[in-house]
Amino acid sequence: MYRAAITAVGAFLPERRLTNADLERLVETSDEWIVERTGIRERRILERGKGSAYMAIKAAEMALQKRGFPPEELDLVIVATVTPEHPFPATANLVSSAIGASRAWGFDLEAACSGFIYALSIGADSIASGRVKSALIIGSDKMSSIIDYRDRTTCVIFGDGAGAVLLEPTQEEVGIMDYLHQADGNGCVHLCMKAGGSVLPPSVRTVRNRLHYVYQEGRQVFKHAVVQMAAVSEALMHRHGLSSEDVAFFVPHQANRRIIEAVAQRLGFPLERVMINIDRYGNTTCATLPLCLYDYENQLKKGDNLILATFGGGFTWGALWLRWAY
Ligand code: UT7
Repeated sequence: MYRAAITAVGAFLPERRLTNADLERLVETSDEWIVERTGIRERRILERGKGSAYMAIKAAEMALQKRGFPPEELDLVIVATVTPEHPFPATANLVSSAIGASRAWGFDLEAACSGFIYALSIGADSIASGRVKSALIIGSDKMSSIIDYRDRTTCVIFGDGAGAVLLEPTQEEVGIMDYLHQADGNGCVHLCMKAGGSVLPPSVRTVRNRLHYVYQEGRQVFKHAVVQMAAVSEALMHRHGLSSEDVAFFVPHQANRRIIEAVAQRLGFPLERVMINIDRYGNTTCATLPLCLYDYENQLKKGDNLILATFGGGFTWGALWLRWAY
């Protein structure tokens, strides 16, 4: 049986930095509040006129180049995003054409902040089935395109970025080992974009009422995120008899440093074995997990156990166990 292994990681971060000092000029907030309540110091912002496909292409090209993998041999491209280039066609199609993945099929996957982990699971299962020999899994979000920079409760958190991983088959004891995902549509009311979909298409009224931005009831989401991320990670680890000592790194979605710390504590991970980069990029939604893998890549060695965990709008959440392959 084949297993899917991550064989390369790529990333793209826009150059422009939005610091806490910049935000102090936009809304009533302070560097002190943001750092203490979220752990974020700055985020990256993509320029106007460019979208999620632009960042996804850059991250994908880097991953392929690092591995020396010819794009025309790619079978599958999945882009996880809540900020697609267009409502349709899929961002994945635009990315495939731009990078020269001429024989690949693909699609976008929308599961809010859990998009990347869900997409990684689908890609891994496709490879394990034997039908797909290689897959690019990308998380790319231009959150600045759906953030209300008058709303201090959301604008301090989110940033733009993209990350990509290449999946290839292996018969070694490495790669994506297992996952456990869950979802609960009742969470929609706490974290959503109210307009722009089929129930409330864009209109003068929806724009005037600022309904095309991220709406979040922070405290509700925070509570569920801590409980569910810890529970699903624990259940997955228990299923395989893994303790926190067996795991080289815990890789949590980067939504709030306090959530990361609370989940790590529940699971028994000391912070030096938790991937954290939220201070520099904020919450990049579908890009947080591949950006963590990219930043910590040179600290990983073949055979290292990683537990990835996420929680996001929907609600959606999940955990994935992988063994690093190189
Ligand atoms: O990735 C998708 C999933 N998303 C998440 O996991 C995010 C989860 N939620 C959070 O990270 C946090 O709830 C927030 C960072 C959004 C908010 O932090 P909090 O500690 O939960 O604050 P709060 O909403 O309980 O608000 C506390 C106070 C309020 O003032 P009052 O009512 O106590 O006077 C807010 O108005 O802090 C105020 N506040 C701010 N003050 C300064 C909220 N945002 C700000 C701000 N600057 N930016």
